[in-house]
Amino acid sequence: MTDKYAKPFNSLDRYAVVGNPIAHSKSPLIHEAFAKQTNQDISYEPILAPLDGFEATVRDLIASGYKGANVTVPFKFEAFQLSTSLAPQVDLAGAVNTMIFSDIGIIGHNTDGDGLVRDITQNLATNIEGKRVLLLGAGGAAEGVFQLLLVKKPAKLVVANRTYKKALRLVEKSFDKARRAEACTFDDLNDQQFDIIINATSTGLTDTALPIPNTIFAKGCLAYDMMYGRETPFMKQARENGAQVADGLGMLVEQAAEAFYIWRGVRPETQSVIQLIRNLA
Ligand code: ATR
Repeated sequence: MTDKYAKPFNSLDRYAVVGNPIAHSKSPLIHEAFAKQTNQDISYEPILAPLDGFEATVRDLIASGYKGANVTVPFKFEAFQLSTSLAPQVDLAGAVNTMIFSDIGIIGHNTDGDGLVRDITQNLATNIEGKRVLLLGAGGAAEGVFQLLLVKKPAKLVVANRTYKKALRLVEKSFDKARRAEACTFDDLNDQQFDIIINATSTGLTDTALPIPNTIFAKGCLAYDMMYGRETPFMKQARENGAQVADGLGMLVEQAAEAFYIWRGVRPETQSVIQLIRNLA
């Protein structure tokens, strides 16, 4: 056992977020705010794992007495494989972002889909049921939220992706064969309108515009970008076409709140924490 993560003398329950890179992560601030608000004695640290060293890092954390960890890019799939048991929602997502280190092993959860749905339905007061929903992208971020969107019974769920094959592969994972999503490319979006459009592509990172028509934003449309921190080209296009625009900061805080609840059994209040993090930006 390494003493790299040795317990401090005042032994709090310890948690961490593991990723690569990790320095930019807002999760420590969010969990510190939750802990303060709910009077929970915990610590929460960012841990940089080598790209080929996720499992070893997790084993070190367990050996050092940590109670659990969040997992971020690029380790969510490895966390899924490492988990000895899985919460029901994880079977739907194929990725793990929250681990409990318990006596019976590593329990894997995924709170991303729940975080997005809570942000849309509660913070942004937008029902998903009966709405025409468009999910842009079919990578890891899209996969993490796809099934939970479908659970909310939209009138239709369309997955549009640059690479059609990947969109098709995602919709074929639908847990419920009766409730199907449709796959398409961006070119197929002409003549279609949507009430909720979620950008789950990584184009915000590179300030790249998506080749989507201006006509897809229905009256009163909610355009949601899973990125946060600045206006992406998608958000700009949506705003210019009359949509209500939201970034992914609410989702970030909501998925963290769900993880905190899983670990501590207490659900923190999120509005003040969303505001706190936004004010820091
Ligand atoms: P993440 O974990 O952030 O989802 P990912 O799994 O690499 O990252 O997925 C990135 C997503 O952004 C994919 O849907 C990708 O489209 P492809 O499947 O065709 O690669 C999409 N994406 C990335 N750059 C893009 C661009 N310039 N235009 C359109 N889509 C893009």
